[in-house]
Amino acid sequence: TFVVTDNCIKCKYTDCVAVCPVDAFFEGPNFLVIDPDICIDCALCEPECPANAIFQDDKLPPGQEAFNELNAELSKIWPNIIEVISPPADAKEWDGVPNKIEHLET
Ligand code: SF4
Ligand code: F3S
Repeated sequence: TFVVTDNCIKCKYTDCVAVCPVDAFFEGPNFLVIDPDICIDCALCEPECPANAIFQDDKLPPGQEAFNELNAELSKIWPNIIEVISPPADAKEWDGVPNKIEHLET
């Protein structure tokens, strides 16, 4: 499965949603996650993310391992998102800021 990681938080560009053939994305207040039970590993979303926040679960960057479980858990709680929406006004300023998980809203 593919996994959304830390740099999506407060960026939330949603370009990923446009290409997913199985609508595997779920939306929280400032972050998106992928449901591992829906994702078919097509890899289409990975290059679409302007924040480079999407990785295959076995190729997660060091320190991002917790996002595996976080995607699995939050995708069962949050609503499905199937259309691209406008990113937050300050998305650019947050792109690349490390450890945004402390700002994750659930
Ligand atoms: Fe959707 Fe493919 Fe990305 Fe999985 S890898 S979330 S199926 S676009
Ligand atoms: Fe997040 Fe990138 Fe999608 S910032 S919403 S994973 S396009």
